[in-house]
Amino acid sequence: MIYWGDKLWAMWEGGHPHQLVPETLETVGPDTLNDLLAADQPFSAHPRIIDGRFVNFGVKGIASQSLTIFELDEQGNTLKQSSHPLSGFAFLHDMLVTENYYIFVQHPFQVKGLPFLLGFKTIEQCFDFNPEQPTKIILISRHGNHDLEILETDSFFGFHHGNAWEKDGKLYFESICSDFFPQKQQEELDFEQSDFESFPIGELWEFEVNLSSKTVVRRKVVERGCEFPSVHPRWVGKEHRYVYMSVCDSSTENGPLQAILKLDKESGEQQIWSMAPRAFPGEPIFVPHLNSTQEDDGWLISLVFDAATHRSYLTILDAQDLNNVIAKLHLQHHIPHGFHGSWIPKVFLEPSEN
Ligand SMILES: [Fe+2]
Repeated sequence: MIYWGDKLWAMWEGGHPHQLVPETLETVGPDTLNDLLAADQPFSAHPRIIDGRFVNFGVKGIASQSLTIFELDEQGNTLKQSSHPLSGFAFLHDMLVTENYYIFVQHPFQVKGLPFLLGFKTIEQCFDFNPEQPTKIILISRHGNHDLEILETDSFFGFHHGNAWEKDGKLYFESICSDFFPQKQQEELDFEQSDFESFPIGELWEFEVNLSSKTVVRRKVVERGCEFPSVHPRWVGKEHRYVYMSVCDSSTENGPLQAILKLDKESGEQQIWSMAPRAFPGEPIFVPHLNSTQEDDGWLISLVFDAATHRSYLTILDAQDLNNVIAKLHLQHHIPHGFHGSWIPKVFLEPSEN
């Protein structure tokens, strides 16, 4: 769910966003963004907001794919749009942006699309991950020359990226990396029977891209199962100090995400707030204090499902000290467990008389 240009959108990577009424959450319907999106043009669920600009992308096609990138201003008007043919099959779930670059990570997949087109399999079941092939880092300039530059690195898979930044003529970014794609066949999709040992563990890595020598090196930053990295919104595209993520309760074994971690990249210190064994947080969202100047001056909010009570609550943590729980806002029912969320400093509902 993302609110931009006075519109609330429910987004996905396979098509247009669905517009909702913020006050009632009533569905308005698919939104073409004033005809910016052609009928077959997807608009992904992972935009990045950098310096007041909404940057998003969509990948069209299966056998032959094209990548389109959009930049919108704060009113939702189109500032830029560029399209690029892709080679090989690209499953692009997330993107990164810096002052001068769009960055995409293309993992080594092959696709046999016919069973999907005939309706026998989901598109995900038609992917084949090839660990013998490199992962490609796709760089596209945000200014002028829109040619793709493709660099190669080790084979890995990952859905989500952290942040990206430029420093001393190099590009840096973070991504959650696992050794392979956790492919499951239809008959194995019983998630109540999940064997976490059979899933690859996703950990946070930092990539350094040398733009002169065209080389990529990567190093592991967090050795623990983790997902959904986020930073202070004002640091998107800039070198940051703190990363927040959902992580496994165990530091050594794979498992469901049951804790929230704050990483201080400068000191290497990690702070963990765990809800194990019965509760499960969604992604942590950083909400800055008004007029904050320090990067961790704010709150982390996360929607937690508590299996012990079969109810959900919204937790608010002090981002400077995760053990300082500011509030738990308890609901009287559960909310189906999800992945992502967002926060904006705007109130849509009038306070209730009661
Ligand atoms: Fe996602």
